Amino acid sequence: MTPSAPRSHSKDAPKSHRGHLKSVAEELGSRRFLFVTGKGGVGKTTICGALALALAARGKRVLVAMCNAKERLSAILGTRPIGHDIVEAAPRVHAVNILPERALEEYGAMVIKSNTVAKLVFDNKYVSAFFRAVPGLYEWSMLGKAWFHTTEKDRDGHDLYDVILFDAPATGHGLDMLRVPKVILDVVPPGVLRRDADAAWAMFRDPKLSGVVVVTLPEEMPATETIELVNAIRNELHLPVLQTIVNGVLPQLFTDAERTELMRDPKLLEVDAPSTSAGQPLGALVAGARRAVRERVQVESLDRLKRTIDLPMALLPFLFDEASTAQGTRSLAKHLGG
Ligand SMILES: Nc1ncnc2c1ncn2[C@@H]1O[C@H](COP(=O)(O)OP(=O)(O)OP(=O)(O)O)[C@@H](O)[C@H]1O
Ligand SMILES: [Mg+2]
Repeated sequence: MTPSAPRSHSKDAPKSHRGHLKSVAEELGSRRFLFVTGKGGVGKTTICGALALALAARGKRVLVAMCNAKERLSAILGTRPIGHDIVEAAPRVHAVNILPERALEEYGAMVIKSNTVAKLVFDNKYVSAFFRAVPGLYEWSMLGKAWFHTTEKDRDGHDLYDVILFDAPATGHGLDMLRVPKVILDVVPPGVLRRDADAAWAMFRDPKLSGVVVVTLPEEMPATETIELVNAIRNELHLPVLQTIVNGVLPQLFTDAERTELMRDPKLLEVDAPSTSAGQPLGALVAGARRAVRERVQVESLDRLKRTIDLPMALLPFLFDEASTAQGTRSLAKHLGG
């Protein structure tokens, strides 16, 4: 890895038909539905924003769908707040923050074919009872709506969106969400709900149309949890995992030998070392030793991820000044091939 530009692919990254290394956007852009998941706070929404810009730069029409989130995508893209009604957040990039109650009402209106009746049936008083009565309906109201957008056509009969980026809830809940179409297939009697869950499940299982993108950090615990997550998605759900994105990668300031040298003196790594050495020349050594530890952990975590899960792995740099800004998101989009 070079200090200023983390590689965006492992050596096993897919190649295009022209033989050049495919960018993440090029590799993922042929899919209709991408499920972006990972542990809380690792950068899923940031990456949805960056990937949306990268795909849009390649001419794709993208919809980013969030699930009842404390919405931060608007800051990440530098646009106005994003609610339950779809907005255009950037050229060719649309976004929505799906509210389960509103989504259920809309679904009801489609099935019953009357807004007025649906409003009565799915009145707020009853909605929570519906959610309790049908297992998975709460999650499906959001995932199903996001999937439904893959079926929408424009006036000329073309797909309204080429790619839906589903900004899934953090790990545990994300997995619950992916289980839902199957739960509906297992428990709900034949009807519209089951027909749609069936169609969605068929799409989610087809690696040419859909797949999971796992976001993680180059640290010990997130790497371990990511390996578990990928195994669970593959072994339990049998869904295709397409890509790992390691976010927040630090440039390497030291060689491995220098790291070993800096980490040799345990005093430099004591908890109070930064405060006791502040303002003295020793302070620089303490900072160096700590940085060496972080770099070592990063190298080991990346190595472990590469060895354990056989997936294309993209690395995105840690943004020191531009995190959560439109400019920072554009620079991440470039790393993804935008
Ligand atoms: N590459 C990066 N460099 C520096 N900071 C980053 C980077 N990516 C994300 N962040 C910061 O990390 C925090 C979490 O990012 P984000 O909201 O995208 O994560 P998330 O996985 O969507 O979180 P949640 O699980 O809460 O939805 C934000 O403050 C964001 O600005
Ligand atoms: Mg998020």
